[in-house]
Amino acid sequence: MRQKIVAGNWKMNLNKEEAEILASEVVNIAKDETPSDVKVIMCTPFIHLSKVKSLIGNAANVFVGAQNCYTEPKGAYTGEISAQQLASYGIDYVILGHSERREYFGESNEMLATKTDAVIANGMLPIFCFGEVLEEREAGTQKAVVEKQLSEGLFHLSAEDFGKVVLAYEPVWAIGTGKTATSAQAQEMHKDIRDMVAAKYGQEVADATSILYGGSAKPSNAQELFAQPDVDGGLIGGASLVSRDFIDISKSY
Ligand code: G3H
Repeated sequence: MRQKIVAGNWKMNLNKEEAEILASEVVNIAKDETPSDVKVIMCTPFIHLSKVKSLIGNAANVFVGAQNCYTEPKGAYTGEISAQQLASYGIDYVILGHSERREYFGESNEMLATKTDAVIANGMLPIFCFGEVLEEREAGTQKAVVEKQLSEGLFHLSAEDFGKVVLAYEPVWAIGTGKTATSAQAQEMHKDIRDMVAAKYGQEVADATSILYGGSAKPSNAQELFAQPDVDGGLIGGASLVSRDFIDISKSY
């Protein structure tokens, strides 16, 4: 069975105090309420990672992730953080290729391929984001767009390394807009994605790959989304900033 995952992407939100309150609440409620076969991940701004990691302590099903890293291991890259540095803090996951990074910071598939290599080489697990923008969906090209993002960003990996990647399909038109993909739209694309992985790595690898949905997921729609056979969980933005909502989503399988 593939891993069920609910990952929260805090984006550039929360000051020190707010972050500590949210992380403590999530850890405490997740310990009691999240089913033991569901992984809960908090992907925080870099400045909060260390504290959140210590607040998680030995909670068995809660993990910490970063939202980005740089391609190079170290050197004169002012303002950047490397995979090697993140690994030294015991960080478990790194989000890569979020549409906001692609759009505002010009991250290309080629750059993301290098970042993916850096994350894996340092013993962490990438949560690799991809998805089409509205014009691509309206033009009916979403499948080709996603196939290009996957093949250029990930399909250079060996099957063994690909097995470490969590996929996060995020239709850009659904992010932060309140407009969720319907469960049928999500299932159709997730099935296509699994077929693409199967064509490249074989059915066994595809069946073991967790594919998360992201884009205005919330407690009121998570159950229907997660009931789809190829939707293995969610990458949650806004709703991950409210502990009750985030944990309710983790209980929606
Ligand atoms: O990484 C998370 C996604 O961008 C989804 O954000 O749940 O606020 O739409 P959202």
